[in-house]
Amino acid sequence: MEVPCIAVPRVDGEESRQALAEAGVLDDDYQIVGEEGTLYIPVTDPGGVPEGFETTTRDLPPRRTVETPADILGDEPSLERLGDVVIVDEDDPDRAADIANAVMASDLPARSVLNRASKIKGELRVRDWELLAEREDADTDRSPTETVHREYGHEFLLDLAAVYFSPRLATERHRVVSQIQPGEHVLDMFAGVGPFAIPAASRGAAVVAVDLNETAVDYCRENARRNGVSDLLTAVAGDVREVATDYHGWADRLVMNLPHSADEFLETAVDLAGEECVLHYYDIQHDSDPFGPGIEAIRAAAEPAYDVAVETEHVVRSYAPHEENVCLDVRLTKSEANR
Ligand SMILES: C[S@@+](CC[C@H](N)C(=O)[O-])C[C@H]1O[C@@H](n2cnc3c(N)ncnc32)[C@H](O)[C@@H]1O
Repeated sequence: MEVPCIAVPRVDGEESRQALAEAGVLDDDYQIVGEEGTLYIPVTDPGGVPEGFETTTRDLPPRRTVETPADILGDEPSLERLGDVVIVDEDDPDRAADIANAVMASDLPARSVLNRASKIKGELRVRDWELLAEREDADTDRSPTETVHREYGHEFLLDLAAVYFSPRLATERHRVVSQIQPGEHVLDMFAGVGPFAIPAASRGAAVVAVDLNETAVDYCRENARRNGVSDLLTAVAGDVREVATDYHGWADRLVMNLPHSADEFLETAVDLAGEECVLHYYDIQHDSDPFGPGIEAIRAAAEPAYDVAVETEHVVRSYAPHEENVCLDVRLTKSEANR
């Protein structure tokens, strides 16, 4: 559409745009267009353009505004995005349907909308999902629960209906992985699709990623391939208590992200630990003493064979009212008598 604008040399573009904005005549409804060294900047009122600018008209495309689900609903829904899957947590089926419709009608790049249909459950820590909406013209044969999530420069293919995954732990994973040095032996005892293990391998560690869930292990291998670290990562399907017999005394670092029952695996952790080993032990405890029970359990399992030094007591997030998800970074050093 032919709209009033100014024509300025490209090098003066930002300064001119600011001058128009200050004069209150910059027209945000149309795009700025560049042609052969000249920028055409749309204005709402040619009469209000500051002196010294050449005014003209030009065929400029309208600026596309991004429509969000909140624009459509009139209020802000609670949503989480995992790749091209949008997750809602809504008990009211009418509200859930309204949110799903708004997501699909908005400009969010969503392929499907899922509602949480159960708590995370069982040994494999997977939850049920209700499919609220799915884009029919999607250019993929992936199931509506499978997606590619990107986190700190890595990509993870995963199926929410078959594996555990939480994007909320991204900062925590980064905190742990940042401590890893090239050449370390890292064993992730509950690795899932590899969100600790793969970045660890990217830092040059030799990594063993164990999980009971065979589907998660398949994804972990695929994710190692996608992120170019297959040479450094061995993914093993099985109960870590059994897998541990092949890695006795091997680990410089252990990741134990099974917060409700990690204490049951401390004997195995001590068996896996080398002469010196850092343990990242995840726990969920009452906020009156979030770290005490974990420290006590680690000492009970590791002493006197190891000296136990608690290096960090870290609150990851609030899990429920008065319950904290915490991580203990603990250094185990073989005691003199046991070397
Ligand atoms: C809370 S998830 C963590 C997954 C991953 N570390 C992450 O951050 O996404 C715990 C994982 O432990 C696995 N798991 C449970 N019991 C196990 C066992 N005995 N041996 C190995 N893995 C186990 C589950 O299958 C699940 O994938």
